[in-house]
Amino acid sequence: MKMTDVINLYQQELQEVERWMTESISSEVRLISEVGGHIIGGGGKRIRPLLLLSVASACGGKGDGRYPLAAVVEFIHTASLLHDDVIDNAQTRRGRRSANNIWGNQASILVGDYLYARSFDLMTKYGNERVIRCLAQATTAMAEGEVFQLTKVGDVDITEEDYLRIIEGKTAVLIAAACEIGAIIGGADDDQVRLFSHYGHTVGMAFQIVDDALDYIAEVGQLGKSIGKDLDEGKITLPLIHALSLGTPGEKERVKAILHRSERYEGDFLWIKDFIDHYDGIGYAMKRARDFVHEGKKSLSFLPSSEDVWALYTLADYIITREK
Ligand code: IPE
Ligand code: IPE
Ligand code: MG
Ligand code: MG
Repeated sequence: MKMTDVINLYQQELQEVERWMTESISSEVRLISEVGGHIIGGGGKRIRPLLLLSVASACGGKGDGRYPLAAVVEFIHTASLLHDDVIDNAQTRRGRRSANNIWGNQASILVGDYLYARSFDLMTKYGNERVIRCLAQATTAMAEGEVFQLTKVGDVDITEEDYLRIIEGKTAVLIAAACEIGAIIGGADDDQVRLFSHYGHTVGMAFQIVDDALDYIAEVGQLGKSIGKDLDEGKITLPLIHALSLGTPGEKERVKAILHRSERYEGDFLWIKDFIDHYDGIGYAMKRARDFVHEGKKSLSFLPSSEDVWALYTLADYIITREK
């Protein structure tokens, strides 16, 4: 199965999710629909809704409330992007000018807040207690991950363990929640819910590792956001962490000097890329991502073969082969 087959398989269900999202951002305050419509209409891969829908379907029960709950998961993700682009001072998102670039930081933060609030509203209407607890824990972990990341900005002594903790919070936990909710509403038993959650967690870890690798190696234009952003913002991600762990003290000093300079030069990014290449930082990160995906796929081995299960394997593979 290819990724296009996965999208075709859930096409109609995804459209329902889109309808829920569009309707849920209609507000009498026009700026909300404008900013919300801009970022939601910009596309996005909709990985989280796809995972929720395919897990629910794999569990056989289809799941009441799966469309609004898939919209909730995508809203929480979208809110985090609106806030993230303010924090990262981003200019581009999903191939468009980012909301902060058009409407400014204040509008982006407030509309992000609105999306979080709307999510609470929808989850209490359409989710049961377990679903609400799962989302409450996920959003708390996301905020924790973001704050922890902030404390590590520019810190060349950041460890791989710190990094894994950051990406678990900011990314993996929400992807795990999407899978867990799919399993809960699909009628899975407790053990199965845990296995789906583990699948989501591992592919979520891989997802952020690949995002961080793409920030160094993606084709400009293909990614829909600028490259080199993480270094620009002083974020030290796995490829660089790996190179730092093998590099000389002199190389580490140079990285530190680059990160702590008030201005960034084109040559800095190139030097860092060479440094990473020299120690195969990208190869190392991609290997870590592949290992996570492998582990995630293993946790699905209890499932009898079905189209939905193939979709989950395909989604896992897509995460490590994607170019955007
Ligand atoms: C971007 O997420 C932020 C990360 C967690 C890496 P996606 O890559 O899922 O962004 P969209 O939704 O497809 O734009
Ligand atoms: C993902 O981190 C942040 C969120 C989980 C919101 P990034 O800063 O790497 O995301 P992009 O690359 O801007 O999409
Ligand atoms: Mg960012
Ligand atoms: Mg990124």
